[in-house]
Amino acid sequence: MEPIILGIESSCDDTSAAITKGDTILSNVIAGQKVHEEYGGVVPELASRAHQQNIIPVVHKAMKDAGVKTNDISAVAFTRGPGLMGSLMVGTSFAKGFALARKIPLIEVNHLQAHVLAHFIQETDQKHAVPEFPFLCLLVSGGNSQIVLVRDFLDMEIIGQTIDDAAGEAFDKCAKVMGLPYPGGPLIDKLAREGNPDAFEFSKPAVANLDYSFSGLKTSFLYFLRDHVRKDPDFVEDNKNDLCASLQKTIIDILMEKLVTAADQTGIKEIALAGGVSANSGLRKAFRDGKKKYGWNIYIPKFAYTTDNAAMIAITGLFKYRKKEFVGQDVAPFARMVI
Ligand code: KG4
Repeated sequence: MEPIILGIESSCDDTSAAITKGDTILSNVIAGQKVHEEYGGVVPELASRAHQQNIIPVVHKAMKDAGVKTNDISAVAFTRGPGLMGSLMVGTSFAKGFALARKIPLIEVNHLQAHVLAHFIQETDQKHAVPEFPFLCLLVSGGNSQIVLVRDFLDMEIIGQTIDDAAGEAFDKCAKVMGLPYPGGPLIDKLAREGNPDAFEFSKPAVANLDYSFSGLKTSFLYFLRDHVRKDPDFVEDNKNDLCASLQKTIIDILMEKLVTAADQTGIKEIALAGGVSANSGLRKAFRDGKKKYGWNIYIPKFAYTTDNAAMIAITGLFKYRKKEFVGQDVAPFARMVI
């Protein structure tokens, strides 16, 4: 019998619970938190409190949607880190209590590994192709920009990563400078569709190896706007679409250049994309271009599995369940954790 796993995700500002049976997703419920909107970013204390309010209704709905009862659940998997400590505590405590009460195994999950393994989530109605090992995964989110070499489900190595800001942070910070609301990434993506990506040129970093840097771009963007606004106060408003398109192109070029080098160096043609920024339409297109140009087999996740979700926690839980990688009740969350 395929194990039924309850996944719990609470690392940042989304409370999520999901149920998988084998590698098939039965339900994936996400409760966002509107409370942060007026602050322009996530307020950790408010996030933990909202998780506490959301966790039980969210788990309840996930079980109801899946048609699963507490007795049916084989194990509970939860995000141990990285993330906000208070937020992680809520999911961890809930998972521990659930496992203890039901006398079922408890499985800790690294949120970053889970983003990569989201590619293995299958739907009930339609199976899709999954990456073959070894594959490369470009993991880009609000907190991470990494190229991960994935040798097996639980055998991963970071071969390149940002030395300062993450790609999502670059989108969000540049959006803020233009007066756009948080998170700016999706809005830049939308406005960029109406703009000319070659209208402006922004500096690209010179970083060694397969590492990334985005803080220089953010600063040069800020100075560029400051200089132009001095001469023309309406500069941003009048050029918003072109600014977004040019900025987005620069970020994508930076990401893709190193990914192409990584693929060249390793000889790997199985290339996957993961994390919140993978929702970006320009980046998705760059992947499709890579398929044509370099003969890559590309894997782009469904939108629902790009941002924080418990489906990816449950599927990672499955791979650990198969290896009996369980933890005890003394487990504690980690704010920082590497793959
Ligand atoms: O993985 P994620 O949901 O969580 C964090 O790591 O925080 O990623 C969120 C990030 C934010 O920086 C957001 O601006 C960015 O993903 N993002 C996008 C798009 N959708 C979300 N960036 C560019 N284009 C998008 N369409």
